[in-house]
Amino acid sequence: MSEQGVSGGAAPPAADVVEFFDTTLRDGEQSPGASLDPLAKLQVARQLARLQVDVIEAGFPASSPGDLEAVRTIAREVQGPAVTGLARAVRSDIDAVHEAVRDASRHLIHVFIGVSDVHITEKLGLDRAQVLARIREAVSYARSLCTTVQFSPEDAGRADPDYLCEAVQVAVDAGAGVVNLPDTTGYCLPFEFGELVSTVRSQVRGMAGVLVSVHCHDDLGLATANSLAGIAAGARRVEGCINGLGERAGNAAIEEVAMALRVRRPLLGLGDNLDARELVPTSRMVAALTGIGVPPNKPVVGGNAFSHASGVHQHGVLRDRRTYEIIAAEEVGADGTQIVLTARSGRHALVHRLHRIGVDLPAGDLSAVWARFLEVADGSKQVEDEVLIRIVGEVHGYRPGAAAQ
Ligand code: KIV
Ligand code: ZN
Repeated sequence: MSEQGVSGGAAPPAADVVEFFDTTLRDGEQSPGASLDPLAKLQVARQLARLQVDVIEAGFPASSPGDLEAVRTIAREVQGPAVTGLARAVRSDIDAVHEAVRDASRHLIHVFIGVSDVHITEKLGLDRAQVLARIREAVSYARSLCTTVQFSPEDAGRADPDYLCEAVQVAVDAGAGVVNLPDTTGYCLPFEFGELVSTVRSQVRGMAGVLVSVHCHDDLGLATANSLAGIAAGARRVEGCINGLGERAGNAAIEEVAMALRVRRPLLGLGDNLDARELVPTSRMVAALTGIGVPPNKPVVGGNAFSHASGVHQHGVLRDRRTYEIIAAEEVGADGTQIVLTARSGRHALVHRLHRIGVDLPAGDLSAVWARFLEVADGSKQVEDEVLIRIVGEVHGYRPGAAAQ
């Protein structure tokens, strides 16, 4: 049996620290079109270690021999985060996860089974009592192989709360050290999900020594809000994917939850172990390797997250970026505040961009360039540096870097 603490090898997190469990390589890889070959998975896992996530869920080892091998390679080669894999509540899946992760210096086994009535009857063809028996058997068996077992009652968000508590009680009594509450279908509203987490924490006996985690899907665009509601209700681990990848509409985006915790730290008083400067590099790597691009307006990691296009906003951020930015681009490894020139831009932005390309016009010469800039901008989405150079050349014959005459 491996020697590990409750949270997958490290000591349980301090009450004021939220751990990040990254499932980009499992739930994220289940996004249609996102599958990764073993080498790409290893590359992402190494980057997740640089990001300093606490746990990497590297795959679903029972799903294919190739995935088992990919998880095993990550477990052997990636240092830092604990490594886990997903198992249905059956011995063969649990054996596959154990086989795949046992060589990691810190590892855990993640066991799940559906607990909503529609999962129990329609998907599993069981009754409630049979599911409880499966939980007892699976968690006990996983505990016989590994010190740390995480139990996920799938579809907790739509389960009868009393039955959910019974299911979690059985898992805790059988030795689960981590209870992860999934809103599998992204159904809950934030206040409800927070209540669900509180109910489980208060109704199940023995929760003092158990780490509560949350796993929220984004079917209604509430995954980040629900994750934060869970954290506010006492969860100290959050599961998610880079770029919000995951089944259907995806999982909570790690970068969104992380930056919400950081930006609102004065209110929430919670820390984390991430190196946030790796968020954008990680996002770019995942986008490149999965082929699933990041929408420009995606919070934190989207191409527009630190871009300002309107004159009012540009004037503000050029005076003090805090007027319209709550995150500094450098904090998340982004390229910096971008002043984008469009037909909605103002003169301050034009002067700023001209200065960046080495053109400092005497005040009297700006108006003609400004007028021509507006004509060009009205006919295009953005005015790039090459076009600006052309405009000043046409209007005044200036060349970048040449002293204004
Ligand atoms: O969404 C879900 O319920 C899951 C579990 C297996 C944790 O991905
Ligand atoms: Zn999921």
